[in-house]
Amino acid sequence: MELYFSDSKPIGRTAKELRLKQKAKVLWMTGLSGSGKTTLGLALEKELYRQGFLVMLLDGDLVRTGINNNLRFSVEDRKENIRRIAEISKLFVNCGIVTINCFISPTDEIRTMAKNIIGQDDYLEVFIDAPIEVCETRDVKGLYAKARRGEVQEFTGISSPFDIPPDPDLVLRTDIMSIEESVQLALEFILPKITLQE
Ligand code: ADX
Repeated sequence: MELYFSDSKPIGRTAKELRLKQKAKVLWMTGLSGSGKTTLGLALEKELYRQGFLVMLLDGDLVRTGINNNLRFSVEDRKENIRRIAEISKLFVNCGIVTINCFISPTDEIRTMAKNIIGQDDYLEVFIDAPIEVCETRDVKGLYAKARRGEVQEFTGISSPFDIPPDPDLVLRTDIMSIEESVQLALEFILPKITLQE
């Protein structure tokens, strides 16, 4: 395909997607702390990379020690956290890069904002679904125990809300499926959407 480049504009998304031989999307993983968002995101990123895709993975712990290190966990700060992530994701998507976001993104309002910023064609919502009892038993970071003791404030699911996503594009039940099964389902969902038709 012959592409026209304007002198006054940056090279567009389509040209970049062609260069990368992929279509860009944002896979937005939402779910409680300990539900498996980052574990699945990391496994999925590796599998997609192995299959030739260029992927960017963003997650709460990473972003909150960098660009968002001035934000905490009030409703307002979480909203600002997600607003910035959504804007950053839009930049990646416009560069043709498949972006996997692993953030609690706890409320309908926050997720709708992310969807509006990214654009509904590019925003694919995946609910990483595990009951709070399961997440609390896993307690990988010891934060649930701290939250129960009152040592961590505004903890999602305990002292801060988590709205069950009403209409996600995909649900992965990590309490009943293995990591491999969840990754397989996520792959079947995402591959047709990011594969460039020759
Ligand atoms: S979000 O609500 O703004 O989307 P985000 O995904 O960035 O949250 O960060 C969540 C991570 O921060 C958790 O996995 C956990 O490790 C840590 N964390 C620390 N304090 C809290 C808290 N009060 N509520 C939830 N997560 C917390």
